[in-house]
Amino acid sequence: MLFKQQALLRQKLFVLGSLAIGSLLYLVARVGSLDRLQPLCPIDGQFGPRGQEEIALRALQFKRGLLHEFRKGNATKEQIRLHNLVQQLPKAIIIGVRKGGTRALLEMLNLHPAVVKASQEIHFFDNDENYAKGIEWYRKKMPFSYPHQITIEKSPAYFITEEVPERIYKMNSSIKLLIIVREPTTRAISDYTQVLEGKERKNKTYYKFEKLAIDPNTCEVNTKYKAVRTSIYTKHLERWLKYFPIEQFHIVDGDRLITEPLPELQLVEKFLNLPPRISQYNLYFNATRGFYCLRFNIVFNKCLAGSKGRIHPEVDTSVITKLRKFFHPFNQKFYQITGRTFNWP
Ligand code: A3P
Repeated sequence: MLFKQQALLRQKLFVLGSLAIGSLLYLVARVGSLDRLQPLCPIDGQFGPRGQEEIALRALQFKRGLLHEFRKGNATKEQIRLHNLVQQLPKAIIIGVRKGGTRALLEMLNLHPAVVKASQEIHFFDNDENYAKGIEWYRKKMPFSYPHQITIEKSPAYFITEEVPERIYKMNSSIKLLIIVREPTTRAISDYTQVLEGKERKNKTYYKFEKLAIDPNTCEVNTKYKAVRTSIYTKHLERWLKYFPIEQFHIVDGDRLITEPLPELQLVEKFLNLPPRISQYNLYFNATRGFYCLRFNIVFNKCLAGSKGRIHPEVDTSVITKLRKFFHPFNQKFYQITGRTFNWP
């Protein structure tokens, strides 16, 4: 009899213990995701006084967990109305540079609770057909967000496309513009590697980088090669400066974003007038990938796709030297205009 009672007690204790551990794990997970969804966005002084902020936060607590569905565009009309969700035009755009680390930057900024990313590259301003569809078409491509959050999109082709600065200016002349750059020669090789991989996927052959980057007739750098032209950052930036003052741009060091992302992200938070919310907790180094990956909370983390962080082909050192020499004066000008100096050779 006594033995039976003891067994029953042990069973009860086991059930209670499991329940307690389960609840604890659930709470920790929810607190993590709750933090992710707090609509902290004091951009352009929109943020109200402390009291209002707290009310807004409390009001949002019951909405957590639903946002992912909204972002995927799966919200019903009723949910949109109930939660005051909106599709907002971007307050900031990552305009380039292709292969500078634009995806990593967007995904990392999306760790911030006040930021909502447009997952796809929209190519509204650089594609005439899309642009002709009008600004409402563009807005409808944006993810749902709470009114206090900011939407960010990235389309790296914007940086090098002639018509884009004027078109963006017409939409919003005070928009914030982010440009992420890498050492120009490395960026050009990364650009080449992406095209090469595309050709290989289609079982096509392709030229060697050296052949494209150097003009065989003059033995000089081939400025007609797009991967080279894209890396002449100052030339493109000068076109943008006809429409926007330099204060509206923030230059991100793409090489540093690879090795030490947090300080670069903190500079962007500052530029966007966001409270500092991205922390070392959100970024962890994955030795297998060789890159930093993202941690949203204890249950959700992710690395960028395998197409980010490709192994580059070996390039003849004399070609690298020639390219670096070629980019040097343009880089100096870029440092001068932007006020940000890099240790590019
Ligand atoms: P490589 O593939 O040459 O290494 P974009 O997103 O603009 O196409 O840029 C791609 C580059 O982002 C990659 O170039 C990679 O080096 C860089 N990058 C920066 N941070 C990264 C990260 N955390 N994970 C993967 N790639 C990252």
